[in-house]
Amino acid sequence: MTVTPRVVLVGPMGVGKSTVGRLLADRLGTGYRDTDEDIVAERDRPISDIFVEEGEAAFRALEKQAVRRAVAEHEGVLALGGGAVLDADTRALLAAVPVVYLSMDVEEAVKRTGLNVARPLLAVNPRKQWRELMEARRHLYEEVATAVVATDGRTPEEVAQAVLDVV
Ligand code: S3P
Repeated sequence: MTVTPRVVLVGPMGVGKSTVGRLLADRLGTGYRDTDEDIVAERDRPISDIFVEEGEAAFRALEKQAVRRAVAEHEGVLALGGGAVLDADTRALLAAVPVVYLSMDVEEAVKRTGLNVARPLLAVNPRKQWRELMEARRHLYEEVATAVVATDGRTPEEVAQAVLDVV
């Protein structure tokens, strides 16, 4: 049987997809799933190790499969890694699903994630790489989103409520 997630959360790393996603799942009385966690469980190693030892392309291939599986299997709240929308097939798949883009501005992003080495894409940066990352991806998040919820200056509870208001 094919199911559809109640809501899929997309947006940049550090925007709060997992915190908000868990709150939302509680409020909706449904399950929470996260494709990053699926990949870590499947490979039994942290994402940073996969990036460093196998390369970004290998990670993206795993991510594409993880998203495909989760979208087909999960009925609750699903959070995707920040780069999942880079893949055109993934974006096409998301066209059939309610997708909320959690947005934040660059200064907020730098403040929240800083030099977090567990996030390989930011290991060397931060502000300039954040700006480039967001310039490259913002339109992709907007392309897949059925709604956009700004997170700047809001608590996770407030963001979760704002998502509930639009799904
Ligand atoms: C990535 C975001 C991360 C993780 C990986 C790559 C990205 O997920 O998938 O480090 O390309 O933006 P989160 O958005 O959950 O941090």
